[in-house]
Amino acid sequence: ADYETITTETRDRVLLVTLNRPQALNALNSQVLDELLSAMADFDADDDLGCAVLTGSEKAFAAGADIKEMSDQGFADMYAHNFFAGWERFAATRKPIIAAVSGYALGGGCELAMMCDFIIAGDNAKFGQPEIKLGVSPGMGGSQRLTRAVGKAKAMDMCLTGRMIDAEEAERAGLVARIAPAADLLDEALKTAATIASMAPLAVMANKEMVNAAFETTLSQGVQFERRLFHGLFATHDQSEGMSAFVDKRAGKWSGR
Ligand code: HXC
Repeated sequence: ADYETITTETRDRVLLVTLNRPQALNALNSQVLDELLSAMADFDADDDLGCAVLTGSEKAFAAGADIKEMSDQGFADMYAHNFFAGWERFAATRKPIIAAVSGYALGGGCELAMMCDFIIAGDNAKFGQPEIKLGVSPGMGGSQRLTRAVGKAKAMDMCLTGRMIDAEEAERAGLVARIAPAADLLDEALKTAATIASMAPLAVMANKEMVNAAFETTLSQGVQFERRLFHGLFATHDQSEGMSAFVDKRAGKWSGR
């Protein structure tokens, strides 16, 4: 597909999506949202793709929602168009997306990174929710996803002061899964995505779905949900293939069925 604000390329079973508005530090406007939604719909529909990596530039993953696009809007415009609601469709992508974050991930940029399944941060990454400095608040799920990721104390600290945290602090807090030297970040993310993309596709989707259920359910409901999906995987060809391959001491050959 032809996009203007993102680029996409495939490497075997991995889709690499790069935010590409360098003049605005990858600020997320409506066109970026539309293009990302289109790319993710194609990604979910393509059986030849197993995992995606979303990245930005070295200086900025994304410096936020596009402030220039929002500055003139009033309540009626925002409410009538349900501004930002489309981002939940990005978060509903069924296959895994790794955020490879170098430089600034601020406001909507931090929120977008948190909509991905996990974050690998360059050692130069900076995360923040600075919306309070603009007289507003997170609007793409940040107050909820950040709190679930790092707990109340640090989420309040970040949302109320707008201060940025670096990669080390983000890893200690549980916001990021791993840190890589900035120069190796993309390689590390692509390698990790290739590992995920080499697994049985239905099992990958089920694992993502059940981990996400932990944010929506009680423990007993979540455990029940997990067990049902786990039972369901025993209806797949790839379950019998995976277990036979283990017994035969060979690599599994997945059919995605
Ligand atoms: C629109 C942005 C932008 C943004 C940067 N730019 N962030 N444009 N929306 N969020 C533009 C700048 O206006 C500038 O354009 C160009 O990108 C380069 O940015 P500079 O500021 O010159 O770069 P630098 O001095 O290196 O500073 C980097 C920065 C700073 C610290 C990241 O750009 C910054 O503070 N940006 C805003 C961060 C922020 O508040 N994000 C939250 C947004 S609200 P020109 O044309 O001047 O060269 C949000 C959540 C929405 O995300 C919730 C409701 C509001």
